[in-house]
Amino acid sequence: MAKHALPVWSSKWVFVLAAIGAAVGLGNVWKFPYIVGKHGGSAFIIVYLVCIFVIGLPLLMAELSIGLLGRGDPVSSVVQITDQQRKSRAWAVIGFLGILSCTLVLSYYAVIAGWTVHYAVLAVSGKFSNTLTANDTHTLFDQLQNNPQTLITWQVLILVITGAIIMRGVQKGLEKAVYVMLPVMVILLLTVLIYGISEGQFKQALIYLFHPNFSALTPKITLVALGHAFFSLSLALGTMVMYGAYLPKGSSVFKASIWICLADTVVALVAGMAIFPIVFANHLSAGSGPGLIFQSLPLAFSHMPFGRIMGSLFFIMLSFAAITSTISLLEPPVVWLKTRFMLSRPVATGIMLFIIWLLGLGSVFSFNHWQDASLWGKHFFGWVDHISANIFLPLNGFLIAIFCGWIVHQYIKQKSEIGINGLAYSLWRFALCWLAPIAIIVIFYQGLFH
Ligand code: TRP
Repeated sequence: MAKHALPVWSSKWVFVLAAIGAAVGLGNVWKFPYIVGKHGGSAFIIVYLVCIFVIGLPLLMAELSIGLLGRGDPVSSVVQITDQQRKSRAWAVIGFLGILSCTLVLSYYAVIAGWTVHYAVLAVSGKFSNTLTANDTHTLFDQLQNNPQTLITWQVLILVITGAIIMRGVQKGLEKAVYVMLPVMVILLLTVLIYGISEGQFKQALIYLFHPNFSALTPKITLVALGHAFFSLSLALGTMVMYGAYLPKGSSVFKASIWICLADTVVALVAGMAIFPIVFANHLSAGSGPGLIFQSLPLAFSHMPFGRIMGSLFFIMLSFAAITSTISLLEPPVVWLKTRFMLSRPVATGIMLFIIWLLGLGSVFSFNHWQDASLWGKHFFGWVDHISANIFLPLNGFLIAIFCGWIVHQYIKQKSEIGINGLAYSLWRFALCWLAPIAIIVIFYQGLFH
């Protein structure tokens, strides 16, 4: 391999695993169950599935194709394609927005990933004993939020682990991490599922999740579902462009994308099927919001047989899921910085980590010292989340759809090993040219003004 050539994944399957690792994260296990609970169960799930396969899948294929054709970090990949096709270099904004948003998202994602490590430690050390009350779990959660030192300790741990993996590069770092963490995560998730089936109210959970209830459908649910489908598939921030840039020759973009969408969806549904039986068995509310996992589940585990072991396994599983995602958020900014300023990988990693850590302190303090320092009703964490998830994410998704659907579609068709033709290709283009942009304009409007 030439000195400056980009690395490649050792095989197509490793790539699929790494991309699944990127997609499966806190979004699937923490956020998906609580937004399902908040938005009335099965109605939300049906819309979500449609969003994943009708809009998410085509966009995922578009991003992987940009990477495959451009063979660089998100900015260089887009520039490579526009130069080759004599289009405006202004499209590089797709790459810049992606890198900026990865940095912003990782700054708070690492803090929340830190909560899962804290809870894993609480569970292992037997804090979820059978005398725990609902009040106690609230207190435990509040104590964590009010303690910046603890939050920072776990945030730093997550960032250091993420950096240590990224520093080692694609084959020695990313691949190895995914090889170890993904199977462990799947086994732990299945163990918690079996536990939910045997000890919890599994039937009630299935009805809640899958019994169609169309009367609960509202436009708001559709928008939340679409936004979450993007986040869950790791779209629009350059992660998938970056992973696509390392694709070995002869991989079908379509097949890989189908696998990623299926795995991401299955994990989210299994997480729901594991969590809700436990919630219902303890007569807890399904709609308790972001605290569902951090407040309700410890309570549930504490009153069930083998709760200490299962609670520990659950939070360890969640920490692993989070780390396979944090590495996917760090890789694009690091590779960009390394290429742009001709740095070594470790130096670029160190600089990016420092920036992300500093930004992340803003999120840490949003839960305690700066709780009252809000601007237009949002504190720092709220703003970073809002700007990245509600503004940059849909905006960039829109630009990617237009770029691939209208501007360079011929080139993608000829050169990217996209793996579809005929009707399937026309459908893919239709989704990019029309469905995705229109749907995104609607979420964008909703996200901004409501
Ligand atoms: N998809 C991950 C989750 O569900 C989070 C994530 C990783 C992400 N990389 C991303 C979200 C890129 C948006 C874009 O938790």
